[in-house]
Amino acid sequence: MERKRWYKDMVFYQIWPRSFKDGDGDGMGDLWGVYEKLDYLKSLGCDGIWFSPIYPSPGADCGYDIADYMDIAPEFGGMEAFRKVLEGVHERGMKLIMDLVVNHTSDEHEWFQKSRKRIEPYTDYYIWRPGKPGGKLPNNWDSNFEGKAWTWDEERGEYYLHLFAVKQPDLNMDNPLVREEVKKILRFWLDMGVDGFREDVITYISKKEGLPDDHLFPVYKGMPNYNHGPHIHEYLAEFKRDVFDHYDCFTLAEAPLVWPKQALKYIDEETGQLDMMIQFECQCADCLFTDWMPTKFSLPKMKKAFSDWQEKLEGRAWNMLYIENHDHPRIISRYGSEVFWKESGKMLAVMYLFQKGTPFLYQGQEIGMLNWRPADPDMYEDVQTRWQYANTELNKSPEDRLHRLWRCSRDNARTPVQWSDEENAGFTTGTPWFHVNPNYKTINVAQQEQDPDSILNFYRKAIALRKALPVVRYGTYTEHFKNDRNLYVYSRDGATQRLLVICSFADRPAGLKVPKSFDLSKAELVLRNVEGPAGQVLMPYEARVYLWNK
Ligand code: GLC
Repeated sequence: MERKRWYKDMVFYQIWPRSFKDGDGDGMGDLWGVYEKLDYLKSLGCDGIWFSPIYPSPGADCGYDIADYMDIAPEFGGMEAFRKVLEGVHERGMKLIMDLVVNHTSDEHEWFQKSRKRIEPYTDYYIWRPGKPGGKLPNNWDSNFEGKAWTWDEERGEYYLHLFAVKQPDLNMDNPLVREEVKKILRFWLDMGVDGFREDVITYISKKEGLPDDHLFPVYKGMPNYNHGPHIHEYLAEFKRDVFDHYDCFTLAEAPLVWPKQALKYIDEETGQLDMMIQFECQCADCLFTDWMPTKFSLPKMKKAFSDWQEKLEGRAWNMLYIENHDHPRIISRYGSEVFWKESGKMLAVMYLFQKGTPFLYQGQEIGMLNWRPADPDMYEDVQTRWQYANTELNKSPEDRLHRLWRCSRDNARTPVQWSDEENAGFTTGTPWFHVNPNYKTINVAQQEQDPDSILNFYRKAIALRKALPVVRYGTYTEHFKNDRNLYVYSRDGATQRLLVICSFADRPAGLKVPKSFDLSKAELVLRNVEGPAGQVLMPYEARVYLWNK
């Protein structure tokens, strides 16, 4: 029996704070800016906010390198601004979740500073190793961002492990003191009134004993020895038992490389330790494993990913639904069409918003923001992008390598939100910390507020419809025409309603396909993204939602 939990009725909005809205004119997005926009978020139909990290940080990975877990960075407005936002969120009946990044800290965190000096009790807070004879690294693991996963520390005279950037040393979660620190952090924010956590790469926190070499993976070497590691469920159960079970909150786990069967070990409603999971399978329809290894977009692959999760979690666990976030390029540029910008932007919204689960929108998605194409690779900011540009595919021309960034870089999603056609897209009155996508003159919130036919207003309509139809919340999911390369068709079946969702990914007209036993003459067409008679032919990127009341 499915559990009733408040987050299941909600739609969340992810804020990547540096680029959302600057409230104090210093060029960097902040919590004052968020406060100004709370009514805007509410007007979208969003009931919850997930904040990417807003803690003090040197910013080596834009905040995912935390130097103090129990404070808010001064550039974001400090604790004063945070309390105001939290209050404003709750006054509006909304919820707020924080990003919990405890696989690693910043190397500027006090714990690391003490650990490298072997000051107790911090000596074993991180994963230190002496290196192998002959000056060799402790093992053959790669970091996810910058070359090998080990860096020599002069002061300590040992190597430390970092699965991400050099400035992001991994915590030693096998140390019970570290787990107690995590619990302190959780209680600190929950006691303040925060409603839950998104847990950053949480499946990485338990490393295989002895940190053995990896002979399996050709890239991201080491991953089989730390993803879903030996004590992962034990540690997560400990956090649940000692902290989460005592609060009315939820947890959302980020899990690279996970499939539904394995996901259930984490999020099964009866036996799991967490509530929802951010899976990457739905991001792999145009790449192998990560955006950085691009392939041709395959709709069947994407459908299979979404359907698999819908089918295998049914009745046992709850899906988190997303198509964009701060780690991936913009969805219209990836799976839709910049030529059919409006149509494909709306179609992609329909494609995922009527599935079962809790949807998340990423800032700018609701106005159809697109990938960013700077002329110069030096304009990129992201640590992963910069490393990959400087170190991979060096045999290709500079132009090819730059084009790859246009397609793959995480910075595509990190340009400031385009609020208006005023200077700096209305994001700041100062000098923006990062480049604004030059298309802001035509793609911006102010313009779309005025246009009843805009992508923005379509999101509002689609979210309102989603919330008004119990079948979207409770119904089962069935995919149709699985092998079709142009259409994504699925239905939802509930006690009193039935829904049919038809999305065309073709950039030319396509024949309408309706599964047998769905009599369109008895249905109401409740949502559509194009004008004109809704006949037997679908327009490019057309989406339709039909409803039957039983
Ligand atoms: C997660 C975050 C990403 C970050 C990485 C390291 O994947 O989403 O932005 O760079 O973890 O913390």
